[in-house]
Amino acid sequence: MFSKSKSALVFSCLLLSISVLQAQVKAKNGMVVSTSSVASDVGVDILKKGGNAIDAAVATAFALAVTHPSAGNIGGGGFLVYMTNQGDVTTFDFREKAPLKATDDMYLDEDGNLIRMENHLTIKAIGVPGTVAGLYKSHQKYGKLPWADLVQPAVDLAQNGFTMNWTLYGAAQRFREMDADSFMGQYFSNSNGEVTQPGENWKQEALGKTLAAIRDKGHDGFYKGEVAKKIADYMKENGGLISKQDLAKYEAIERTPLKGTYKDYEIYSMPPPSSGGVALLEMMNLMELADFEEIEFNSTAYVHLVAEAMRRAFADRAEHLGDPDFNPDMPIDRLISKEHAKQRFAEIDMEKASVSDSSKFGQLYDGESTTHFSVMDKDGNAVSLTYTLEFGYGSRLGSNELGFIFNNEMGDFNPVPGITTSRGQIGTKPNLIQPEKRMLSSMTPTIVAKDGKPYLVIGSPGGRTIINTVFQTVLNVLEFDMEIHKAIEVMKIHHQWLPDRIMYEKDLLSPDTRKALEGMGHTLIDRSRLGVLMGIRYDEENGVLVGASDSSSGEGKASGY
Ligand code: DON
Repeated sequence: MFSKSKSALVFSCLLLSISVLQAQVKAKNGMVVSTSSVASDVGVDILKKGGNAIDAAVATAFALAVTHPSAGNIGGGGFLVYMTNQGDVTTFDFREKAPLKATDDMYLDEDGNLIRMENHLTIKAIGVPGTVAGLYKSHQKYGKLPWADLVQPAVDLAQNGFTMNWTLYGAAQRFREMDADSFMGQYFSNSNGEVTQPGENWKQEALGKTLAAIRDKGHDGFYKGEVAKKIADYMKENGGLISKQDLAKYEAIERTPLKGTYKDYEIYSMPPPSSGGVALLEMMNLMELADFEEIEFNSTAYVHLVAEAMRRAFADRAEHLGDPDFNPDMPIDRLISKEHAKQRFAEIDMEKASVSDSSKFGQLYDGESTTHFSVMDKDGNAVSLTYTLEFGYGSRLGSNELGFIFNNEMGDFNPVPGITTSRGQIGTKPNLIQPEKRMLSSMTPTIVAKDGKPYLVIGSPGGRTIINTVFQTVLNVLEFDMEIHKAIEVMKIHHQWLPDRIMYEKDLLSPDTRKALEGMGHTLIDRSRLGVLMGIRYDEENGVLVGASDSSSGEGKASGY
């Protein structure tokens, strides 16, 4: 079915059940696909009012900060890729930065060992937030409707409330149990100080006030004035590093996208400080050299080839990538070249797994919550936006007066200079902590173009698995002609060089294939799911947008009109 020859019956049955579960949504005029149905609807309302894709993205991002606080944020950072119907493409980098007072040994004890979770669950794990700056800058340059109109829906959701859902309620209970008096223990409270029950209206008054300042004063409403002062005071009182100066100096950066090709398609993705675009393009170049007339989707050869491509792209990522403003000599052009792919492809033995050399580098620990959404407007302009707090609910810290959660993105830096282990730590230079540096990311917001126009808008959360789930979804659409919802739902694997193993989605890889892969020298480990993809494809034959939200996202919705 999805190979040029025939697929296994078992697999067809799985797909059939998936297509019953998860329908795609079609719309003529515009679409927003996000992990929160409320936020998707906010974005579509903006499109209906005449807003363009950037306007809808800004409104959706602010709404997600209210309705999906595990990852939707104003206290974190991310990346936006924008492509117009004229074929112009740009990106906005609003990744968090290390504070001015940060040092490369700030998470180490006296013996030079990493203090457990110091870079993740303490106030020192917070990077200077970038989200408000990024949304503002993209709107200043490319938005159409007034800024205030785009922030207002989020202000309304925070001040007037929205219906508490079971996902949020589950988190509320967990935080209460951990520490009822903490910021997160109280975060989901109603006016009586009790956890808001599913189905009840949940208001976030402090967040509403912060959002109102951003609505009224734009970038400066967050980085200067009252809000900035409260952030700096909170940091000072609690031993944090971020100062008023850090906030005043923060700027989002418009960067040239990375561009690659796969057969007749053009692929645009995020350059460093994301590693996503480089790795995605390297892997797509490798796939272009494969003979998919012979290799069936989900077969042993397919999984082996895809895993070997991932192994190589992740090794290059670990060795070379970091913040471009601190690493001017990264060999990006070489890594995404067809020539490099040829060399890498020649190393792959189709009968046998390669071995990742753990004596050279290692891996970073990744968190568990980020969120992606995709937008297309009636004129065919597209936005692909992924942003994050790093862990679900970030550092789990915040000021009651401000009502938003701070990220723990400092955990994405390499924490121990020079020390790399096969168990989970990397110490290479490009991503060591330096004041004002942006930490390396895996977020991979991507737009694929056909005939110079946006064709596929895609992205996902999932730490380092992001790069691989986006890669496989793109390949599923471009090579295997899958419809967008199927491309999102079908079996994905993840290999990140180290640890040297293939993660696969449980139940979606046959026992025979697993056995054959083990026979080739692969180690396998199961996962219930990989990725939470949100995508839109333009169906040119029928002139409609087709959107799908990953069924593993409980509250997700493709909303169109
Ligand atoms: O920027 C990054 O690559 C990570 N901070 C993203 C973390 C993440 O995706 C966790 N998600 N599920």
